[in-house]
Amino acid sequence: MSETATTTSASGTEDLLVRALELDAADPLADRRELFALDGGVYLDGNSLGALPLHVPARVQDVLTRQWGELRIRSWDESGWWTAPERIGDRIAPLVGAAAGQIVVSDSTSVNVFKAVVAAARIAGEGRDEILVDATTFPTDGYIAASAARLTGHRIVPVAPADVPAALGPRTAVVLLNHVDYRSGRLHDLPGLTAAVHAAGAVAVWDLCHSAGALPVGLDEHGVDLAVGCTYKYLNGGPGSPAYLYVAERHQAAFDSPLPGWNSHADPFGMTPGYAPADGSARGRVGTPDIVSMLTLEAALDVWDGVGVDAVRAKSLALTDFFLACVEAYVPAGRVTSVTPTAHAERGSQVALRCDDAASVMPRLVERGVVGDLRRPDVLRFGFTPLYVGFADVERAARVLAEVLAENPGD
Ligand SMILES: Cc1ncc(COP(=O)(O)O)c(C=O)c1O
Repeated sequence: MSETATTTSASGTEDLLVRALELDAADPLADRRELFALDGGVYLDGNSLGALPLHVPARVQDVLTRQWGELRIRSWDESGWWTAPERIGDRIAPLVGAAAGQIVVSDSTSVNVFKAVVAAARIAGEGRDEILVDATTFPTDGYIAASAARLTGHRIVPVAPADVPAALGPRTAVVLLNHVDYRSGRLHDLPGLTAAVHAAGAVAVWDLCHSAGALPVGLDEHGVDLAVGCTYKYLNGGPGSPAYLYVAERHQAAFDSPLPGWNSHADPFGMTPGYAPADGSARGRVGTPDIVSMLTLEAALDVWDGVGVDAVRAKSLALTDFFLACVEAYVPAGRVTSVTPTAHAERGSQVALRCDDAASVMPRLVERGVVGDLRRPDVLRFGFTPLYVGFADVERAARVLAEVLAENPGD
C-alpha cells in the first residue's frame, strides 16, 4: 500500500469512526443493547442464533425449579403451560403484522413447512397439481416441499422468486417462498408476489425465518395465506427454540393438518378415537409442546416491549448502509463483492460479501472477535440485529475485515 493510500485510509477511518459514534448517540434503540449478554467482540451472527437476553436465565430457572420442581403436573394449568403455544404466538403476532389468534408456536420450521404446504395444497383443492418453490430456497423448505408434493400427488416447479408471476397458472396450487434469501440477504416482494399468487387462484406460503424481528412483514395487511418462521434468529428465542405457524383466520376452518396430533384435537382430554380438529390457531399444534424451550422464548420476547418494528427496520437499513460504506472505504477494491441488493426495498438485515478466500477469512475474523458466518463456498455473511448491534460495531467489523484481507493474500 502506498504512503498516500495509508494517509487517506487513516483519515477515512477517523471520519467513519466519528460518524459511527454520532449514529450511536442518535440511535433510539441504543438502550436495548444492555439487555443482552454480549462480550467485547462484534456479534454479526444474530441472523443465525440471536444473543441471549440477560433476564432469561432467571426465568428459565423458575420454570425448572418452581414450575416443574414444585408444581409439577399442576403447571400445565397453573403456570399456563398448556396454552403457551397460542399465548406466545400472540406475542409474536404484532412483530409480523398479524392480529391475535392466527399464530401457534410449535415444532421446528421444517415441520411447519410440511404442515403448511400440505394444508395449502388441500385448501387449493382438486385440479391444481403444481407446487412452485423458490429455487433459491433454504434447503429444508425444498426438501420438505418435495416430500409433501409426493404425498399429495403434486409436482414441484422450482422458480426464482422474481419469475413466479410468469410461472403461475391454472395448475398452480401452492407457492412457497422465502421472504428474505438466507444467502444473499435479498428481500422479496411479499405484497406483490402474494397478490400475483392470489390472482392465479393459488395459495401463498411464506418462510419468514430471515425477516421476522428485522423488518415489517404485514401478514394480515398483504393477505398472506400461511407462513412459517423460526424464533432463534432475530427473535432471540435460544438454540432450537420452537418455530411458529401462521394460518390466516379465513383459512382456519379449512386448515386440514397432515399431522393431526392430539394437541390439535377439539377435546384433547376426551381421548376419543376419532379426530376432530380444534378451532383457531390450536389446529396447527401436533404433540406435547417443548415447554422449557417455549417458555425460554416467551421470556426472550420481553426485549420487544415498547419497540416498534418500523424503528427496527430504520436502524437495520442504516446499519447495513453504513457497513457497505465502511467496506467500500476500507477494503481494497476487488477483494469482496456484495451480493446483497443496494436498494432498500430489496434488502433484508444482512450483508453477504462474495470473497474468493472466504473460507479462510471467516475463521480469522472470528479469532479477532468479529463473528459472522460462512456460506460455502465463497460467501461471508454478516447479520445486523438492530436491538444489539451498534454503528461502532459495524465500523470495527469492516476495519477488521480489511485488516484480515490485507494479511490474507487471497487463495
Ligand atoms: C429460511 C429458513 N428456513 C428454514 C430453516 C430451518 O429451520 P428449522 O431448523 O427450524 O427446521 C432455516 C434455518 O436457518 C432458514 O433460514
